[in-house]
Amino acid sequence: MNVQKIFATLNIDLPCISQGEINVYSPIDGSLLASLNETPSGDANTLVANAQEAFLQWRCVPAPKRGQLVYDFAQRLRQHKQVLAQLITLECGKIVAEAEGEVQEMIDICDFAVGLSRQLHGLTIASERPDHALRELWQPLGPTLIISAFNFPMAVWSWNAALALVCGNSIIWKPSELTPLCALACQGLLAQSLRQMSEASEYLSQVAIGGHQLGAQLVDHHDIPLVSATGSCNMGQQVGPRVAQRFGRSLLELGGNNAIIVSNQADLDLALRGIVFGAVGTAGQRCTTTRRLFLHRDIADALITALGKAYQQLSIGDPRQPDTLVGPLINHTSFDHMHAALQQARQAGCKVIGGEKVTVPNCEQGSYVQPAIVDARGTWTNHAHEVFAPILYCFDYAELEDAITRQNAVDQGLSSAIFTRDIAEAELFLSARGSDCGIANVNLGTSGAEIGGAFGGEKHTGGGRESGSDAWKNYMRRMTATVNYSKALPLAQGIDFNF
Ligand code: UN1
Repeated sequence: MNVQKIFATLNIDLPCISQGEINVYSPIDGSLLASLNETPSGDANTLVANAQEAFLQWRCVPAPKRGQLVYDFAQRLRQHKQVLAQLITLECGKIVAEAEGEVQEMIDICDFAVGLSRQLHGLTIASERPDHALRELWQPLGPTLIISAFNFPMAVWSWNAALALVCGNSIIWKPSELTPLCALACQGLLAQSLRQMSEASEYLSQVAIGGHQLGAQLVDHHDIPLVSATGSCNMGQQVGPRVAQRFGRSLLELGGNNAIIVSNQADLDLALRGIVFGAVGTAGQRCTTTRRLFLHRDIADALITALGKAYQQLSIGDPRQPDTLVGPLINHTSFDHMHAALQQARQAGCKVIGGEKVTVPNCEQGSYVQPAIVDARGTWTNHAHEVFAPILYCFDYAELEDAITRQNAVDQGLSSAIFTRDIAEAELFLSARGSDCGIANVNLGTSGAEIGGAFGGEKHTGGGRESGSDAWKNYMRRMTATVNYSKALPLAQGIDFNF
């Protein structure tokens, strides 16, 4: 299905499909999918004013009613799951199974948010004063800016959007310039839900398509109390301080440099499967992709050999084909970065397996690559940088404590995993002296988190938490409320202030 047909099936008008400033190419074969008009940066103020107005109205709608909007949107996602997945595949090159998984992730977070809309509860706290009630209330926060990356062109937005909407906020979405069509599709479906609901303004959700200048204006805007940004550490380093400068709140979900430790007590078959999905799934372009391996010396040779064999079995090609497991990189720049990183490894003396360019018939303009294994044993002890491509750096270790120390000795702190059947090793990994990441798994890989848990990581990953658990609190204003229902005015801390 082409883009026009996809939008027609979704019943969404795609107004400016040609002759715009932003050309959208498919990573599958380099074909031009659309040429869209940018949102003029001068429109930033209007977008925010509209979002503010929509918010003032929406915050008064009871939360369970707000949940109905998200429920309706989820129904549309269910109805169009396959078509939306096709668009993801076309625009970001994800294989069909993973693209459908991404839409499922959206449905899941919507379901979660609908349930949440009947909760959003605060604490009742014991007051030290007689006849006083002390409690915590959660109030809607305001227009929420969502900045998302190309690799999860729908799901990451939905984690934020579904929660922000039930929390009573309006949303503005600035998607990656590489994947604006996915954004327009989601926005179009949400607009259909908005039209069903008299309490909701059409400006409750808006999309801003454009580059750096537009993004900067929104990020700097005083009337956006929360900026939730997913992308590179570099991007976060720009967004975070700008938002802080105006005392806004930012929720950052940035780079990962995720590692798996494989103990000599591991089920190696399980480990192999976990590693391969973690390292080559989404062509190594997840923030949770497995980028480093720490292998116990006793099993390192065997596992690297098995990995090499497994990598040879991978079908690399057109992501629309059902048997493809590894689709294209997002663009040629990604390939160049991968190539440069592998060159550096070779020059340092590491053994590199794979990494060659793959030519796919009818997709010659796509950037396909054989995922690479870098056997860095004896050359490097660690790898500090995130290369957003399928490169797996392998190291070995003798003592688990040392492996954990090295795993933690990088700037990023998103996801981590250990494969072991030894309960003491597993618990050490999850303990205060274990992994320092936001996500720590035992006997499964680093990627593919469920929406029910809080998602995000520490250090240069930005510290933010999105998605499940109590991440919703980021989207609300915490109010500590004390009510005195006595006839006296006792002061806290026993202060006497009589006059
Ligand atoms: C991302 O790559 O930005 O845990 C998000 C995972 C997915 C989300 C990844 N559920 O791999």
